[in-house]
This record gives sequence, C-alpha cells and structure tokens, in this order.
Amino acid sequence: MNSKKILVIGAAGQIGSELTMKLRGLFGNDNVIASDIKNGGEELMNSGTFEIADATDKAGIESLIENHKITDVYLMAAMLSATAEKIPMKAWSLNMDSLFNILNLAKDKKIERIFWPSSIAVFGPRSPKENTPQTTIMEPNTVYGISKQTGERWCEYYFNKYGVDVRSIRFPGIISYKTLPGGGTTDYAIEIFRSALKDGCYTSFLSENTALPMMFMDDALKATVDIMQAPSEKIKLRSSYNLSAMSFTPNDLASEIRKQLPEFEIRYNPDSRQQIADSWPGSIDDNEARKDWGWKHEFDIKKLTRAMLDGLKTEKLTF
Ligand code: SER
Repeated sequence: MNSKKILVIGAAGQIGSELTMKLRGLFGNDNVIASDIKNGGEELMNSGTFEIADATDKAGIESLIENHKITDVYLMAAMLSATAEKIPMKAWSLNMDSLFNILNLAKDKKIERIFWPSSIAVFGPRSPKENTPQTTIMEPNTVYGISKQTGERWCEYYFNKYGVDVRSIRFPGIISYKTLPGGGTTDYAIEIFRSALKDGCYTSFLSENTALPMMFMDDALKATVDIMQAPSEKIKLRSSYNLSAMSFTPNDLASEIRKQLPEFEIRYNPDSRQQIADSWPGSIDDNEARKDWGWKHEFDIKKLTRAMLDGLKTEKLTF
C-alpha cells in the first residue's frame, strides 16, 4: 500500500475534500497530496500537503506530479450540470482539458493509475428511465452529460490504445454534510436537510415526483477506494461503471425527514434544473459493478436521513 503516492485534483470540492481525508487515513497523510484552485477547509489544509493548481494547466499539473513522485491521480475537478448549462464552453474546457492532461501524463508513463468520475448525466431522455442498464441508448442533452460521455469514450480509448489504467464510476447524486456541492441538479437532496434543521421548511427546485438515483458520501468513497484497489483484470469496463444505492423523489425524502422532524414542510417551485432532472434516469442497474469488483452499498434512504441529520447537528453545519 505504501508505495502509492496520490494526487487529488479538486480536493476542496464536495467529493474531493472527503476523499482526500479517506485516502490520507488509508495511505498516510504524507502520501496524499491535495490540490485545487482554491483553499479547502481546515481539516484538509492542516492534515497534509496542499498545492494550489489549475486542473487545465498541463505544465502545472505535470510539475506537481514530478515533484511529488505521484503514482495515482484522482481527478475530481469538474463543473456540474446546472452551472455548465450557463457557461457551456468553460464547462467543456474544464471537464475535457483536465481529463486529457491526466490521460496524456499516464500515456507518457508519468503516472500509473487514474480515477475519474463519470455521472448518471451520461444518459439522456431516450435512455430507459427505470433500472437504466450499463449499455443502452445514451444521447445526453446537457453540456455536463456530453462532457462525461465523451470522457468515458476517451478513457476506454486510452486503455485500449495505450494501456492507460483508468477506472471510473457513473456517480448518482452524492449526498453529504461536510462540504457543500456546487451547481448540481441533485443538490436539493443536501439543501433540504440543512433547511429542515434551520428553518423547518424547504422549497424544492425539483417537482414532487422527480425520482433520481442518489448515494450517501460514505458509499461513494467506498466505491472509489474499492475500484481503485481492485486487481486490474477485474475491471472489465474501462469506460465507466453504473453504480447505484437508492432512488427517491423530493416527496419521498420529505416523508423520511418528517419521521424525525414531524413539523417539516416542503413546497415545490421547479426551475430550469427540472428539465435536466427529467432527462436523467430515475434508477440505475449496477449489476456489472457488483459482479466485476464486488460493489455493495450500505446506505438506504432511512440510514441516509439519520446520518445527514445527525451529522449536521453534530457539526452544527446548518448554513
Ligand atoms: N450531482 C451531479 C449533478 O447534479 C450529477 O453527477 O450535476
């Protein structure tokens, strides 16, 4: 384990910040370098090396990799779905240039292994809505989805053509309480908990019956570590794996919250994010991940609700 030297790019973001801490726990603080274009929270900054770096700056990333003798890169920097619709070209260059930088460094044997997250956004309105299979019609119609689908094609291409050891998961909406997400369509499922504790009510930007695939952060981190630790021959798909834990609507989540906070009220005022959500699957078939590298989730909607409310209360993070 200890021969690994890890770089997390996008380490101040929602997944990146908790992933960095998890990897530091597993591999040692000195073996996990965090980087982002902005500083992260206290725990992240104080527990190990942090470097300011722009994921789209190839020379900057390359010198970080050389200086720290990095073996594995977790590329977590990306612009999420809702923000990407507002600044499409910027989203495209961030999401694609950052990936090409890392794929090319691996092709040139400067690093050994890459983790790159894809998303349920690779699917589109013509994909089967329920239990969306691994392989099916895709046709994403958001900038974010198009960038993730394109990224998947390139990951597979670099594996087939150059033997690049890249591993990827199609994340559903990731729910956590420590670091806020930014600009996603699934963000309501985090805001709702904070508002429930702070105000006792929440206005959802998605309609009552919009089902989306979701996952608690602990499961997302476990999947990331598991796929990266799996022996190479178990990773049969080098594009990206479907991954699933639970699926719910804002109404389902509100009912679950009410079991603990009976006075909680929810209102609905869908905005432009509704259209994005409507183009995505309601639930995902992740048999391939379960079969190939033993994926298993732990958190369902009940456990998630308990963990979110307890976590936010303990950390006093309702804002
Ligand atoms: N959480 C992401 C988003 O909403 C989906 O990958 O954009």
